[in-house]
Amino acid sequence: MNFQLSEEQLSVQQAARDFATTELLPGVIERDTHQKFPKEIIKKMGDLGFMGMMTDPKYNGGGMDTISYVLAMEEISKVDASAAVMMSVNNSLVCWRLERFGSEEQKEKYLKRLSTGEVIGAFCLSEPEAGSDATSQRTTAEDKGDYYLVNGTKNWITNGSTASVYMVIAQTHPEKRHKGINALILERGQEGFVVGKKEDKMGIRGSDTHSLMFSDVKVPKANRIGEEGFGFTFAMTTLNGGRIGIASQALGIAAGAYELALKYSKERKAFGKNLSEHQAIQFKLADMATKIDAARLLILQAAYLKDQKKDFVKAAAMAKLFASQIAQEVTSEAVQIHGGYGYVKEFHVERMMRDAKITQIYEGTSEIQRMVISRELLR
Ligand code: CAA
Repeated sequence: MNFQLSEEQLSVQQAARDFATTELLPGVIERDTHQKFPKEIIKKMGDLGFMGMMTDPKYNGGGMDTISYVLAMEEISKVDASAAVMMSVNNSLVCWRLERFGSEEQKEKYLKRLSTGEVIGAFCLSEPEAGSDATSQRTTAEDKGDYYLVNGTKNWITNGSTASVYMVIAQTHPEKRHKGINALILERGQEGFVVGKKEDKMGIRGSDTHSLMFSDVKVPKANRIGEEGFGFTFAMTTLNGGRIGIASQALGIAAGAYELALKYSKERKAFGKNLSEHQAIQFKLADMATKIDAARLLILQAAYLKDQKKDFVKAAAMAKLFASQIAQEVTSEAVQIHGGYGYVKEFHVERMMRDAKITQIYEGTSEIQRMVISRELLR
């Protein structure tokens, strides 16, 4: 593995850093407080190419590699983890998979607009009674000949009200268990499709998380992704790749908090000298930086394997497991270094500590990552 980033990768990283500091930083506290994310910012992210980074240019994407994507994710997450999760879901759960498994018609109709950010996508797997236990899908997609009739409820859906295109996992043949599940594309505004309440979350409060209700929604067969019964494998393999994005989000939150703590330690005085001159603080900074570098290397390894078309499932789960763990530890230490200032919103690290927690929960809890890793080890 080459540790030297290419000119192109460095320029993507710089563009993401510039966008994060000029466009995202100014309103990030307000967006967290009011749980809002202006459409104009999403549009700018699309215009700058952050919404379909890895998609083939023939479908209006950036045609970039996964390494460029994780570099951009880290930079954006350093400043605004809510923006990063919208970007992550659109890039790695929706566009990446539609390009791989969608029909040409689906790519023309949906992918071309998703990869520019003209429309935003959502990935709808979780249900009130099927979070980690994803095979227990209760949403049904009854086969009616040339269409499916969809009924059920999805929970905790990222981009729930921002999205226009929804990839919905639903059960068609319960007797076949996971082999009877389909992945369908639904559109906002379809009859019987209701976007439910917005969740009042601990963190990533700028990103909109909703429940979705389906009542006799007619979905044409042409909107099924892949073969009949492919839905569960589709969801699992999508999450395998999605975890690289969430690991990068966790890394960015940790790195952003660390950078703020480092800066603060050089400015704040206690007992007659800068905090950074106290060994207690120096050791904290050393541990934080080491953990961040280790997480980054795991993520780059997973991204590299994916780009090389090698098996990256274990590497991605390890990266997410580790990065989300260290995001907890590093953000907590960043608050500690800030002392009382760290506990108030103005200094950002308070929000980052709250934002970090979700990275241990979505796209598979830490326990699920351990299941995935151990299965790969024992296979
Ligand atoms: N990759 C590919 N295939 C996989 C897989 C993986 N990581 N894990 C399981 N499978 C396949 C198995 O090979 C099996 O297929 P075959 O029968 O054809 O061999 C099938 O899936 C069922 O496997 P299991 O019987 O082992 O299933 P299980 O019920 O014991 O457990 C699980 C599977 C790994 C725990 C799975 O349910 C899982 O990953 N759960 C977590 C779901 C999750 O991440 N939810 C997050 C919601 S999405 C989200 O958060 C998005 C967002 O908004 C940000």
